[in-house]
Amino acid sequence: MAKTKIDPEMGSTIDIGISSKDRAKIADGLAHLLADTYTLYLMTHNFHWNVTGAMFNTLHVMFMAQYTELWNAVDPIAERIRALGHPAPGTYAQFGALSRIKEPEGVPKALEMVRMLVTGHEAVAKTARSLFSVAESAEDQPTADLLTQRLNVHEKTAWMLRVLLEN
Ligand SMILES: [Fe+2]
Repeated sequence: MAKTKIDPEMGSTIDIGISSKDRAKIADGLAHLLADTYTLYLMTHNFHWNVTGAMFNTLHVMFMAQYTELWNAVDPIAERIRALGHPAPGTYAQFGALSRIKEPEGVPKALEMVRMLVTGHEAVAKTARSLFSVAESAEDQPTADLLTQRLNVHEKTAWMLRVLLEN
């Protein structure tokens, strides 16, 4: 994961039973999750606009449901970072530096779009999963709960997209 500028002393007046060191570590992980989620949101909306071919209607509608879900997901992730006392990243430059998701070049064919989205959802699941043990050992239940919800969505969506690639 890329390094971010997280100040470990940030929000040092916060007294919720999680040390400032743990809050900084969790905020850093959540910043990566936010960047991944935002990047995957944009990719999905891009594909909603640009998909072509025999599966147009199915994919256009399916991508709309998926980008709407992702768009709604960025807010609770950012606000959890704030509740832990840190600033949430919110620029394309920050998201580009933090995200592990590879962005598309040009306009991929419909099935290539599906393949890229499967990889994207799997990548976000890995980011969320890598933070889980950190949140759990810090007894940060709200973050653990948020991560569980995000894992459920990304693994389910990856499955729904993956089956489209089967013959
Ligand atoms: Fe639309």
